[in-house]
Amino acid sequence: MSINRREFVSWMSLGFVITSVVGCNQTTGQSSGTNDTETPPESPSNSSQGFQAVGTVEELEKKGTLTDDMMSVIVLRSPNGELIALNNTCPHRGCAVSPAPEGETLDCPCHGSRFSIRGKVLQGPATTDLPTYEVKTEDNQILVKVA
Ligand code: FES
Repeated sequence: MSINRREFVSWMSLGFVITSVVGCNQTTGQSSGTNDTETPPESPSNSSQGFQAVGTVEELEKKGTLTDDMMSVIVLRSPNGELIALNNTCPHRGCAVSPAPEGETLDCPCHGSRFSIRGKVLQGPATTDLPTYEVKTEDNQILVKVA
């Protein structure tokens, strides 16, 4: 079977029109479907305000500290029970600091820097403090504002 040039052009034009119409509908449908059915409505949630959950109050009481490696956050309590959230990345060369056994300082295992539980440098080689974050509890969750 053979087709002439005119028939070939006619079939190609029809194919182009069908492809264009289907492509437009799929693009429109995906966009509309995602917004209407898959994405929950915006709400003033904690994550939209920059707060992220790092654990529960019970976990903190049980372990003494909470850490989130993805956010580089450590949460602990001061002797008077105040929640403290810090970036646990040592500003010297980036190792993760952790509480000393006596719990009064945060120590870096790499080169010996030492910080108060509020993040102040007590001993170098680090020369800058650990950044602190806003922290709160809500519905038994400990939330840290990292952004
Ligand atoms: Fe912490 Fe060097 S990385 S003291």
